[in-house]
Amino acid sequence: MPVSRAAINRELKRRMGGYGRGGRMKIEADEVEILGGVRFGKTLGSPVALLIRNLDFANWIGAMDPHGAHPGDALARTITRPRPGHADLAGALKYGTHDARDILERASARETAARTAAGALAKAFLTALGVAVTSRTVAVGRSTAAPDEGDDFDALLALPDDAPMRSPRPATVEAMIAAVDDARRRADSVGGCFEVLARGLPPGLGSHAHWDRRLDARLGAALLSIQAVKGVCIGDGLEVAGGGGREAHDPIGYDPTARRFTRPSNRAGGIEGGMTNGEIVRLRGYLKPLATLPRALPSVDLTTKALSEADVERTDTVPIVAAGVVAEAMTALVLADSMLEKLGGDSLRETRTGLDAYWRTLRDY
Ligand SMILES: Cc1cc2nc3c(=O)[nH]c(=O)nc-3n(C[C@H](O)[C@H](O)[C@H](O)COP(=O)(O)O)c2cc1C
Repeated sequence: MPVSRAAINRELKRRMGGYGRGGRMKIEADEVEILGGVRFGKTLGSPVALLIRNLDFANWIGAMDPHGAHPGDALARTITRPRPGHADLAGALKYGTHDARDILERASARETAARTAAGALAKAFLTALGVAVTSRTVAVGRSTAAPDEGDDFDALLALPDDAPMRSPRPATVEAMIAAVDDARRRADSVGGCFEVLARGLPPGLGSHAHWDRRLDARLGAALLSIQAVKGVCIGDGLEVAGGGGREAHDPIGYDPTARRFTRPSNRAGGIEGGMTNGEIVRLRGYLKPLATLPRALPSVDLTTKALSEADVERTDTVPIVAAGVVAEAMTALVLADSMLEKLGGDSLRETRTGLDAYWRTLRDY
């Protein structure tokens, strides 16, 4: 498979953007180095090794020294007042440390840079099979996108990489930016919702036959693994739960010219019975308001057990655009897996041949 360093870097840059991010992203300028698994711009079949350097690490060499002795709390930047809403306390208890720094650096969503880079390879694979993946911002706090904003897939694909919010409507972007500014003014954070969309998938990826092969379950787990994502919704799943069955589903039609089944609506979000149904896959992720706040939340010191305020770290106000980009990567990784399961092949050409044959089979159905 061809690999483009520029395409990976583009995704990394997209992940760093969006309105509402904090200081860390001003320090980093993520770029990938390809260490192995690729020769003359093509994968070899061996694992692809990608390196992204943390430029900020230069400021942390003493505090994160793998070899030296503990230099004392100040220099080690020890964290003893765990932040509520983070891995700090549970991780410190689980691993028996009184310095939550051991936990929080690994728990940080900084690692989603690596997922984004790996996801760029999955995206390239899917693109070669005619599948496009994109995302949009559905809500920031109480500022929500208009109901039809996700209908024009091409408009979403065409959004500039540096868009402050991923919405094609300037009024929506403005309202969402205002929601971020409002939270900042109150020294608070704010939550949000993003949607990932994938177009061009054949029906029948995943399976109804085993719980662990259900595509919605696998995509759900992939999205829930993103830090601060507390809920996932397939299609209009959350909205339809409050209504009746007549408005919840997508009638089935047939187009004899194209020789394909048609759906006039896509409330199911492209997945029925744990399988793609040939429509656009739509997944929403709900982000909790971030737990690191300029005005810290109440906590207890791990060593003294005294009530105190949580330690304060540099923080975003809401990384909603970035979370959408990471979710694109996670979705692409799961979809690439499910394509390979369905089609097999040791080369891109073989997989494509399998896909073409499957599309033909569907037309002759
Ligand atoms: C792209 C991205 C950036 C994030 N940046 C921050 C941040 O700057 N400050 C913060 O407190 N949490 C941030 N988070 C969320 C935390 O990493 C997450 O809430 C924390 O690890 C607690 O884990 P949990 O919410 O998944 O249970 C970010 C999440 C994502 C996806």
